[in-house]
Amino acid sequence: MATLNERKVAVVGCGFVGSASAFALMESGLFSEMVLIDVNKEKAEGEALDISHGLPFAKPVQIYAGDYKDAGDAAVVVVTAGAGQKPGETRLDLVKKNVSIFKSIIPEIAKYNKDGILLIVANPVDILTYTAAKLSGFPENRVFGSGTVLDTARLKYLLGEHLKIDSRSVHACIIGEHGDSEIAAWSSANVSGIPLNDFCEMRGHFEHEKSMKEIAENVKNSAYKIIEKKGATYYGIAMSVRRICEAIVRDEKSILPVSSIQHGEFEIEDVALSMPVIVGRSGVEGAVPIRLSDGEKEALKASADTLKEVLNGVL
Ligand SMILES: NC(=O)c1ccc[n+]([C@@H]2O[C@H](COP(=O)([O-])OP(=O)(O)OC[C@H]3O[C@@H](n4cnc5c(N)ncnc54)[C@H](O)[C@@H]3O)[C@@H](O)[C@H]2O)c1
Repeated sequence: MATLNERKVAVVGCGFVGSASAFALMESGLFSEMVLIDVNKEKAEGEALDISHGLPFAKPVQIYAGDYKDAGDAAVVVVTAGAGQKPGETRLDLVKKNVSIFKSIIPEIAKYNKDGILLIVANPVDILTYTAAKLSGFPENRVFGSGTVLDTARLKYLLGEHLKIDSRSVHACIIGEHGDSEIAAWSSANVSGIPLNDFCEMRGHFEHEKSMKEIAENVKNSAYKIIEKKGATYYGIAMSVRRICEAIVRDEKSILPVSSIQHGEFEIEDVALSMPVIVGRSGVEGAVPIRLSDGEKEALKASADTLKEVLNGVL
């Protein structure tokens, strides 16, 4: 078994999401080696060439198309392979197709790579994260999904626009399923430490309930809207993948709402979903005890139940 190369990433699946993520990772300067793997080898080769041609404007990275053996020493393996949503399809509709793809991919990764981190991106990401953890036999801290990191970015972006402030000063997150049952954790939301409603009033917004509902719906429906207009979403998720890899490679101990297997927090057991956790070099390093209102707790439990029902049908 190969010794890990801390500066190597593998991207499995080189469609819209995989290639955009590879591009974002090349630009990040985080890695010195990147292998692209796809069942369609020509596609992986084409993407490797195309992305490599930007290297004179970035930092050196060796980028090539390869197979699972080449991912044996990758510190992070990003899995984006799988069918995407078609207009009108939910993420959960993809479950059968993508679980079966994972049954062929994950054992191949685990055959050559024993110590890396599996970052799951394909949808439904929570179901596939759980599936990947079971199929790989990796410790749970090293298998997690991009979860609601993207939804949280969408929430921060929309709040930033609403309040006319830098979205990086917004502290708010989406938790639960990356999908229709996700929850905006409003009760802990703040802008630079100022409770959200107080900040909204400072900026001349007083209809809190109405605005929160509209913004949460907008976040939830973002992917549907984008898929309707351009067929797929990939830039936002590519930036999310880059952010998560940054937290891992630089051992940042950043708090991110990635999807990981739950063990009793909020009475949720044995299902993967997103809650804020500390992300560093060893993956998920600990839960962050977020405060939730009773309504949010109920909605979180319902989200977990939805996912559990789907899991029972596929595993
Ligand atoms: N987690 C998120 O926030 C998020 C955001 C956007 C999209 N996605 C998901 O990412 C996945 C990919 O979306 P996309 O738009 O890139 O789709 P796509 O169809 O453009 O790309 C999928 C790629 O996977 C490859 N592939 C299929 N089976 C494979 C296998 N067995 N082994 C290796 N490669 C295989 C295909 O050849 C293709 O290149 C979808 O499931 C989509 O729903 C997730």
